[in-house]
Amino acid sequence: MIEGYAVPDFISEFWHYYIAALTIGGILFTLYILVSQTTRKLAPGEQAEILEHTFDGDLQEYNNPLPRWWLYLFYFLIAFSVLYLILYPGLGKFSGVWNWSSATQWQDEKARVDAEFDKRFKPYLQMDLQAVAADPKAMESGKRLFLTYCSQCHGSGGEGSRDFPNLTDNEWLWGGEPERIKASITNGFTAEMPALGDAVGGEQGAREVAHYVLSLGGRPHDPALAAAGKEKYAVCAGCHGEDGKGNADAGFPNLTDEASRFGNTEAAIVESILKGRVGGMPSQAHLGETKIHLLAAYVLSLSKR
Ligand code: HEC
Ligand code: HEC
Repeated sequence: MIEGYAVPDFISEFWHYYIAALTIGGILFTLYILVSQTTRKLAPGEQAEILEHTFDGDLQEYNNPLPRWWLYLFYFLIAFSVLYLILYPGLGKFSGVWNWSSATQWQDEKARVDAEFDKRFKPYLQMDLQAVAADPKAMESGKRLFLTYCSQCHGSGGEGSRDFPNLTDNEWLWGGEPERIKASITNGFTAEMPALGDAVGGEQGAREVAHYVLSLGGRPHDPALAAAGKEKYAVCAGCHGEDGKGNADAGFPNLTDEASRFGNTEAAIVESILKGRVGGMPSQAHLGETKIHLLAAYVLSLSKR
């Protein structure tokens, strides 16, 4: 049972009995009507009476017994519903003797598929990530897993987009060593940069720091603005380093490489400073170690193209 799903929807015992009584009462009532109608047979030679009402001027109705096939069909349906209500949930909060629920059915199927997957791919767990990344068969599965679990954020080819890092380059927020990649996927992380407009003296200050950051990366910049921003950059150095190369152990991005998600432009850097940036990669631990191993190897293979 999935936690939370086992809780019945009824907040008061009353509704359980109310619904169960209505259901059973409805079946018994149908049964009563059927039985009372089946027992009346025409005696030999007896003519069925003609009912009193007349439709459309001359259309009259015989009071014949209900056809047998129709009655038996009804009896069959009643027997079916009784059996159903014994086996499956339907009577108030009674969960049926088979204890079936769509959640447990889904879980059982998932467990079966996962076990099958693990059986087939467990051998890769013994292999080093680099070796798995070089194995075409493993990478075929890795690609499929990536499309299922990661592509909605990282793009189908892992190339990322504005708010999601590119996984096909060789520049990493959290370090590109195989085990680091695996840890990023398993544990997830949050990366947060506070808005620092006040700390650098507003928009003009942010522009100056931005030009200093551009100069750190050896990019075209305005030397006068950069010189003015050098001192203010002290606010940033604690996270991004004196040299702007960041700190992969703590997830502080390198500001001098080409991996910038938001762009190495004055406008983008000023925006980062004024608004701050919040990013987060959700933990994928729920996928299990075998899948994560294949995924980490796949990400590794992407970055080596
Ligand atoms: C809900 C969106 C989302 C999903 C799903 C997701 N990621 Fe991420 N991932 C992110 C974001 C956002 C970051 C960067 C976080 C940040 O801002 O620092 C990230 C970062 C990463 C990193 C670290 C990159 C670096 O430069 O260090 C790796 C590796 C990664 N993701 C792999 C995966 C894999 C493999 C999957 C699928 C199992 C996956 N991600 C699924 C959003 C997602
Ligand atoms: C508390 C630590 C911290 C401080 C201080 C800090 N940053 Fe950041 N910065 C981060 C983190 C973490 C990210 C990544 C956010 C994300 O992944 O969404 C980031 C992202 C950025 C980016 C975007 C990088 C990209 O990939 O495009 C720029 C540019 C940047 N910071 C510049 C600065 C500047 C300039 C300063 C000083 C005014 C500064 N940061 C101060 C932690 C910090």
